[in-house]
Amino acid sequence: MHVLVTGGAGYIGSIVTAQLLAAGHRVTVLDDLSTGHRDAVPPGAGFVRASVTEADATLADGSVDAVIHFAAKSLVAESVRHPQLYWANNVAGSLALLESMRRAGVRRIVFSSTAATYGEPDVAPIAESAPARPTNPYGASKLAVDHMLASYAAAHGFAAVSLRYFNVAGALISDGLRLGERHDTETHLIPIALQVASGQRERLSIHGVDYATPDGTCVRDYIHVLDLADAHVRALDRVLDRVSGSSGPDAGEHLICNLGSGSGSSVREVVETVRRVTGKPTPAAEAPRRPGDPAVLIASNELAAAELGWAPTRDLEQMVADAWRFVS
Ligand code: UFG
Repeated sequence: MHVLVTGGAGYIGSIVTAQLLAAGHRVTVLDDLSTGHRDAVPPGAGFVRASVTEADATLADGSVDAVIHFAAKSLVAESVRHPQLYWANNVAGSLALLESMRRAGVRRIVFSSTAATYGEPDVAPIAESAPARPTNPYGASKLAVDHMLASYAAAHGFAAVSLRYFNVAGALISDGLRLGERHDTETHLIPIALQVASGQRERLSIHGVDYATPDGTCVRDYIHVLDLADAHVRALDRVLDRVSGSSGPDAGEHLICNLGSGSGSSVREVVETVRRVTGKPTPAAEAPRRPGDPAVLIASNELAAAELGWAPTRDLEQMVADAWRFVS
């Protein structure tokens, strides 16, 4: 099948592209390189440098069977300061993409959604039926697209899967490929801890030690990017199955699945894992809470298991070890 991957020059998009190629699909990456890297696009994939608002030309020849849509702004703090970037890129951009797809008769899509759609959850683990109450424009913009997909499934027969990622880490290093996190602005715990381990940063700040959690630090559900990529390949198969090319009454479906391990690790546990895996001291200092951080975010992954036959297979140790190999 021919898959258009928007944002395929980014961290997760490039690794999913590599896995799609390995699964035998033809892939074209559409990326404006605003945050992605041209050299992250795996050999074997086609590349179009363009925004998601300019997908018409790429979809025009009628060869694309499905879209996997990653291209987005994804920094929570930036979304609070500059919400217009998130409404324009994530919401208006996705709407433009869906309209291009509709014009071209492409009705299968897998969308990169987020745990941030849930906001401050009342319970752990979080099921997809939990209330979606995002606490920042990033989460709100992704939730808006989830709603958009539900309406396109109902009205226009789209088959869509929204994958709500929890905390993604790790890298792909194999067959001459080295793909991992390379953000200009790094805010995520594991890459920052590895920068401390490698001596690029002096110390790590542990943001908040007074949460109502076993060791006082925030608990998150970490998932290896290769397990995440596997879920995308499965979600793609699902949407390929659902829409046979005709517009029968059963064609439309919008499925939302959480992607996480079902268990959590605290910030202190992550830092300990980084120390153990790297063998480096990795100094960490207690610091004030980071505004907007929920205490505990853990996914229920039962729906992904039932609907996609998916289960994560790699633990935190493996994520840190692979991310460490990528940066060292
Ligand atoms: N943390 C630190 N020090 C750091 C960086 C992070 O203590 O230098 C802590 C954070 O406070 C948080 C935990 O480590 O408690 C994880 O933080 P990350 O920034 O790595 O990840 P988040 O849980 O904040 O973000 C993730 C996704 C976002 C998504 C969000 C939903 O990366 O895309 O979950 O809340 F929006």
